Order: sequence, then structure tokens, then C-alpha cells
Amino acid sequence: MIGQDAYQLNLTPETGLGPVFNQRSCGSCHNRPVGGPGAQFVTRFGRLTKGGFDPLDHLGGSLLQAQAVSEDCEEFIPPEANISTLRVTPGVLAYGLVEAIPDEAILAVRDAQDASIQGEARMVVPLESLDGEELVGRFGWKAQIATITSFSADAALNEMGLTNALLPDEIAPQGDPALIDLCDDVPDPEDPPDGSSTSFVQRVTDFQRFLAPPPQTPRSGMTGEVIFNQVGCNQCHTPSFITRDDPMLEDALRNVQIRPYSDFLLHGMGLAGDGIVDGPASGQQLRTPPLWGLRYRDPIWHDGRFGAGTFEERVTYAIYEHGLFASQGIDSAQAFAALGSADKALLIQFLDSLGRIEFDADGDEEIDWADVFGSDDGVGIAECHGQPCTPDDACAIHDVNQDGLVDDLDLPDFLAAFDGEVLDCDGDGTPDVIEIIRNPLIDADQNGVPDDCKTCPGDIDGSGAVDVNDLLAMLAVWESCPDPCDADLDGSGTVDVDDLLMLLMLWGDCA
Ligand code: HEC
Ligand code: HEC
Repeated sequence: MIGQDAYQLNLTPETGLGPVFNQRSCGSCHNRPVGGPGAQFVTRFGRLTKGGFDPLDHLGGSLLQAQAVSEDCEEFIPPEANISTLRVTPGVLAYGLVEAIPDEAILAVRDAQDASIQGEARMVVPLESLDGEELVGRFGWKAQIATITSFSADAALNEMGLTNALLPDEIAPQGDPALIDLCDDVPDPEDPPDGSSTSFVQRVTDFQRFLAPPPQTPRSGMTGEVIFNQVGCNQCHTPSFITRDDPMLEDALRNVQIRPYSDFLLHGMGLAGDGIVDGPASGQQLRTPPLWGLRYRDPIWHDGRFGAGTFEERVTYAIYEHGLFASQGIDSAQAFAALGSADKALLIQFLDSLGRIEFDADGDEEIDWADVFGSDDGVGIAECHGQPCTPDDACAIHDVNQDGLVDDLDLPDFLAAFDGEVLDCDGDGTPDVIEIIRNPLIDADQNGVPDDCKTCPGDIDGSGAVDVNDLLAMLAVWESCPDPCDADLDGSGTVDVDDLLMLLMLWGDCA
């Protein structure tokens, strides 16, 4: 895929990297999965005085570029700065759909919000705008950008140093224009970096526009979501939007219901904020991060202050952090604190469903035999098959049609998702994995092959060849059929001359 290649392309100084930059490709930060979030940080700095916040533009602020193509141009946090903070890489999955949320829908959410938690819509003019019309900013921790094209141009320049049609001027290392010529002699704009006919910014934009939303399993009905709503999380983490019904949009993006769990508005988070002022966004304000895909985000919070530990620990800390002084999240943090432990657990179980992949019981992002037989990390579909379940039960991950029963109706989806090899040992048209899910007893040793399946008939001793030892093994049980009756090749119930003839026909190495 051309867009994905561009997204993963490592720039070099010759193809436009630098003079200063943070990483060489988009995908090196947005890497879990490609286009998703990551654990890479960038640094913002500035100076806070009685007169207000100064992003120290003239000294290379507020974004620090941590690397340079030459040591002559390296940036550092200037001594004038008295604030610096980290920003962690958010995911951009389904951002084409987020871009397609109508402004009016976001504004309607704002207007319906209680005064105590009401957010602010940040209006911005996209870099590519021809008419100068303001749109609701929705991307970035400060809601600073409204369109993917603008973000791509901005990230290309600010994270990688690639000048482009929308942002044609290099960033001056440490704010000093003289250093640009010293360290970068590639003519601007540097996009496209690889002589391609489409610009890099266009290609990464296309790639991001069609990234699918993270999964959510089960898709609905969890008690934890009811509690999420009761304690007021949904007031800012708006569960769903419908994208614009705009004939100019591709079908995949048009009039689609999405479940981002964000209002894309700025909220005052009081002492939990980052102190960095960005245009109209104050040092306390942050955009509500979408919670979809939360399960695979580590670390979380704008500066990644909650990392490592278990998922439950991370999100519990994050919820309590909403309760810091002067935060709009205080009431819901307190309402969470007042919940009994069972209700807290249900709420966190719901958060854990955001990003959860259907059938992936052990959460290793692969649908394999561990998800059939189960493991310490999750119950397998074989154990759930035939069982009723509610969305709160562990088996719900396998009830993908959500009819309250894990049954044969869920199996076609399982087969489509299964990453293991699909074999049909008895050639009856039903894959072995399906037969094993329906009746796990047929694969007692749980090796994924039905126990009565002989991949090499005649190889009674399992040596890999049909040879004289198999003949001797057959003669040893002649005219009888002890259990296991491996030598009864034709399944007649007794070992006789028909089996001997078959053995001779099968003579030789196994295929
Ligand atoms: C050095 C790591 C890094 C690189 C390289 C990088 N990003 Fe990002 N990206 C970030 C961080 C950190 C943020 C959050 C920025 C902020 O709001 O302060 C972000 C935010 C974004 C967002 C908005 C996400 C949101 O939640 O609203 C988009 C879209 C994006 N990046 C696209 C790109 C593209 C396209 C490229 C390549 C041209 C790229 N990024 C390169 C780290 C990176
Ligand atoms: C007043 C609006 C508001 C309310 C109410 C609210 N949140 Fe948030 N939430 C935010 C904002 C804004 C952030 C970003 C804070 C930051 O990173 O500094 C956030 C961050 C988070 C994060 C971290 C996500 C990430 O990727 O970093 C989680 C998890 C979260 N909220 C869950 C909840 C839950 C659960 C509740 C209910 C108990 C809740 N929130 C209530 C606005 C709100």
C-alpha cells in the first residue's frame, strides 16, 4: 500500500530530514499498530511569567526537536524555559471518520453539557483552506488541528523536518535562522522526498483517512458502560457520533456510526493539565482523548504519566487524576471513588473492552489455538461453545453475534479470524478446528489435530515411514483390535488381511 509505505518511510538528510527532527518516519512513533498510538514522547517547553505564557518561539519552542542531522544544530531546552512537559504519541486509527464528524454535532454536545463540565470548541483554519473558514479543531492534545491534511503537513515539518507545500519553511534550530543554511542544503519544499508524483503529505493523509476504528468487544451491553454513564464519564467521553452524510465523502466514511468515547472538546483539567498554552487552549486545558483502543495504549495521559503496571492500575490512576484541584473531572472522579469495588471492577472491565479483538481471549492480538483451548489469560471458545453468556461474562468475547449464546452461528466469524492453519483431516468439509471447538474431546492432547487423524496412515509406530516395524506391530495384534487400534487401517474392527494389503500399498516414507 503506497500510503502505508510513505507512513513507514525513513527519511534521510538527503531526502528532506531535518535540520532538526524527532524521528525519521511517522510509523516509528505511531506504531502500535501502524497508525496507532506509541510509547514515544516529545517535549514541549515554554516560559511562564506574570505576563502569561511564552512558547519561546525565538528559541525553538514550544516543541523541542530532540535530534539533528548535525551536532552544530542540536536543540536543547533553553535556560529561559521554566516549564517543560512530555507528550505521548496518541493513535490516529479511524481519524478519517473523526475528521468526518460534522462540526454541528460536536457543538451540540458542547451546548448540552452541564456548566460544571462544559468543554470548549477550538476553532481553527486548516492550512489547506482556500476560503479561510474555521472548523472545529479535534486533533492533537490541544485540539489544535481540524484536518488530517493539516496534521500530516504539520507533523512532516515539526517531527521530521520535511518542508512541504503547506509549510514550506524549515524550522530554525533553536530559533536561529542562520543554522538552517548551515545544516540543510536540500531546496524547499522537500516534499516529495522520493521523486514520487504524489506528495508525501498527500500519501500519509490518504493512509490515515482509511484506517479502521479499533475494535470493541463485546460491542455493547456491558454493565460497566451503564456505570461509566452513571458516574458521568460519558459527559466528556461521548460514546458515539455519526459522520457527515456528505456525497463528497467516500462511502466508507459517510454516514457511519462511530464509537470514539470523546467529545473532541477542550476541558479544564486543573492541576492535572500540562501548563503549556497553545493559542486559545490554556495551560490547564486538554482535549478529551478518544478512549477507543484504550486497552493497547500504554502509557496514558497527555504526558504518559501512567505507564507500565496492569491495565487496571493505569486506568484507575487516570480516573483519580481527573479529581485534581480545579479539574472539570472532579465530580466524576469522586463518583467513581464512591462506587463499591464490584462496580469499579465492572467499569474497568468495560474500559478493557475498548480495543479488544473478537475471539482474542488471551489478548496477544492473534487468534490461535490458545484462544480455542483457553489459557491462564482467557477462556477458550471450545469451553464456551454451547454456553449461554451475557456481555459481562468472559465468554462474551466469543459471542460475536451477541445473541446470548456461543454457538455454531459464531463459528464462521471465528474461522475467518483464525490465524492458524485450517486443515480438514477427515476430508468431510468441516475444518478440524471447527470440529474441535464443537467437541474438544476429539483432540485430547490439544495439539490442534484430531486424535484419530492419521496424517500418515500405516505409520503405526509414528516413525515417519511405513516399514517393517509397522508390519511387526500389525502382526502383534493380528486378528484382534486392542485399544488404541492403530493397526486397523480400514476401521473394520479387526486387524486382518485387508489391513495387511493396505499397509503394503502404503509402504515407504510418509508424504
Ligand atoms: C516523534 C514522534 C512522532 C512522529 C515522528 C510523528 N508523530 Fe504524530 N504525534 C506524535 C505526538 C507526540 C502527538 C501528539 C501531539 C500533540 O498534540 O502535542 C502526535 C499526534 C498526531 C496526530 C493527532 C492525533 C490525535 O490524537 O489527535 C496525527 C494525525 C499525527 N500525529 C500524524 C502524524 C503523521 C502523519 C506523522 C508523519 C508525517 C507523524 N504523526 C509523525 C508523535 C509523533
Ligand atoms: C470533564 C470531562 C471529563 C470527564 C467527566 C471524564 N474525563 Fe476522562 N479525560 C478527560 C480529559 C480532558 C482527559 C485528558 C487528560 C490529560 O491527558 O491530561 C481525559 C483522560 C482520560 C483517560 C486517559 C486516556 C489516555 O489515552 O491518555 C482515561 C482512561 C479517562 N479519561 C477515563 C475517564 C473515565 C473512566 C471517566 C469517568 C470516571 C472520565 N474519564 C471522566 C476528560 C474527562
